[in-house]
Amino acid sequence: MNNSFYVTTPIYYVNARPHLGHAYTTIAADVVNRFNQMRKAETYFLTGTDEHGDKIVEAAEKENTTPRVYVDKISKLFRELWPELGISNDDFIRTTDKNHIQIVEKILQDIYDSGDIYFSEYEGLYCFGCERFYTEKELVDGKCPDHESKPERIKESNYFFRMSKYQDWLVEHIHKNPDFIRPERYRNEVLSFLKEPLEDLCISRPKSRLKWGITIPFDTDYVIYVWFDALVNYISALGYPDGKKFIQFWPSAQHIIAKDILKPHGIYWPTILKAAGIEVYKHLNVHGYWNVDQSKMSKSLGNVVEPLSLKNKYGLDAFRYFLMRDMVFGLDSNFSEEGLVNRINSDLANDLGNLFSRVLAMVHKYFKGSIPQIDLTLDEAASLSLEKDAAEAVTEFEVCMDKFAFHKALAAIWELISKMNKYVDLTAPWELAKKKSSQKQLEAVIYNLLEGLRVISGMIYPIMPETARTMQKHLGIDPGASFYELDHLRKWRIIQPGTILPKTITLFPRIDVKKEDAANGDTDQDVKTRLKMKPEISMEEFLKVDLRVATITAAETIPRAKKLLKLEVDIGEKRTIVAGIANSYSPEELIGKQAIVVANLKSAKLMGVLSSGMLLAAVDEKECTVAGMDKPVKPGTPLS
Ligand code: ME8
Ligand code: MG
Repeated sequence: MNNSFYVTTPIYYVNARPHLGHAYTTIAADVVNRFNQMRKAETYFLTGTDEHGDKIVEAAEKENTTPRVYVDKISKLFRELWPELGISNDDFIRTTDKNHIQIVEKILQDIYDSGDIYFSEYEGLYCFGCERFYTEKELVDGKCPDHESKPERIKESNYFFRMSKYQDWLVEHIHKNPDFIRPERYRNEVLSFLKEPLEDLCISRPKSRLKWGITIPFDTDYVIYVWFDALVNYISALGYPDGKKFIQFWPSAQHIIAKDILKPHGIYWPTILKAAGIEVYKHLNVHGYWNVDQSKMSKSLGNVVEPLSLKNKYGLDAFRYFLMRDMVFGLDSNFSEEGLVNRINSDLANDLGNLFSRVLAMVHKYFKGSIPQIDLTLDEAASLSLEKDAAEAVTEFEVCMDKFAFHKALAAIWELISKMNKYVDLTAPWELAKKKSSQKQLEAVIYNLLEGLRVISGMIYPIMPETARTMQKHLGIDPGASFYELDHLRKWRIIQPGTILPKTITLFPRIDVKKEDAANGDTDQDVKTRLKMKPEISMEEFLKVDLRVATITAAETIPRAKKLLKLEVDIGEKRTIVAGIANSYSPEELIGKQAIVVANLKSAKLMGVLSSGMLLAAVDEKECTVAGMDKPVKPGTPLS
């Protein structure tokens, strides 16, 4: 039982389409769910939709349809979105499910029978948007802080839950369990609310006003208040009171919500549970808002961010990574597409992607794609501190993930990535490869790097499950192996020497920011800096460069210079030019080709060969492409 883990998201209202905020909470829940699988916990992950209440009726009316048809339609949008975002929920609950309704009725009846529900007349300020009464104190300038509209004064006879009776108990429970509500700022917020006397909670709505809800079992003129109905989903989905899942998972329950619904979860829910004689949940984890241009996302402001379009544009794992890396869980965060692109290019394409392809390229270059043996005596010397660094990263990662500090957990992984990139520079495998005497050291270095990548692939699993699997495949790890379990990640020397690895791939292509320029409003200078453009020159300066068409007449490799080729070219006269293009061209394929050369560059000796001129080529991280002419031209023709 103590190795069970149960996580929930809010059940979302079906009065609007899913947006970035819903995606964030649900991805966060998916991340902690997968993380607990890394700890070999038995996990259960619940999400769903909240389908009763005034808001839904209004939304259905706007679309000229019935609530029933309407809730089916929107609930389906949520249900179908989650697999697209890699969400691994075990169940999807709808408050219109028959089982749920029966359990809500049962709990209400139980509390009624125990005397904690009473009937009374009440007059107060009611916000139809929030579907609840407000006290004067809670209003801001006389308006509902969420909807910024004036609540209406209404007088009604209703059923009330004796919430006040449980106030002292709740305060004590929060004091005794410091991380019952976390992070701390939200615990403090609830405690400060509880400093004032708690009012009893109105838990019914007369059917004369609202029909779209669950009928109160002991008075059919009323339906149940939507929040009472909704909160119960967390246990009805598990088959309360005697379902196997309820017994196994409820004691480990962790809810994830945003700060907008702190009060129902931090106050109503624990007191309802207490009154019904049910153990309270273990943790309430509260995050902040994703804002756009510093204001909360909302349909009326027209700044709603669509998660699916971001996934389609940038890839699922990059999107998930960004959400987890950029928001400090608990605080608000501002969303921008530019921020997302920057993260992809710097953290994913550059740091992680480069390390991965760099190491795998070396396995192919030095060991024909086969994982090298590791010599025991050299192991320590060659590993430097990599093994220790990896173990520390795993420990830090676990501590942070446990506290929902996703950004810190990711920072710990990226620190290891940066240490590994430095390890490559420090050990300089390309130098080790030059001498036979350092062959064993080269083997150890590459083996250690592969091990480091294995540990990284495991740690990124909860956040980027697809990339984790791709990395694993390219590291020759058996897909059935428990490669992401924490116990496994704490070990070293797991991967098997002699395994043949597939050719390396690009994990995350760089996003070409040029295409985005017009959209994100960069200044010309921003664009130039990003594209590493050189300062302006005059025509006069340019004309000093003597560009000529050259025909390559001979080409050969240069011993000990892997990147260089020695070319004989005809530019009206015969020249020897050394060009760093051996990674992309073989000597044979160059002979007869026309190229463009700088003819008046000062001669220089490269690896013992005198080079008189320079061949022009487009060079990026992976390849170079020789610049040539569209059609054959007489050798020596100047370019202008
Ligand atoms: O409140 N930033 O449903 P809801 C971050 N049905 N998260 C956001 C967000 C934003 N800008 N906007 C929404 C309800 N969310 C009730 C819940 S639970 C028993 C009943 C996320 O559709 C966040 O998780 O209004 C927030 O708490 C939730 O969506 C509110 O969803
Ligand atoms: Mg809401």
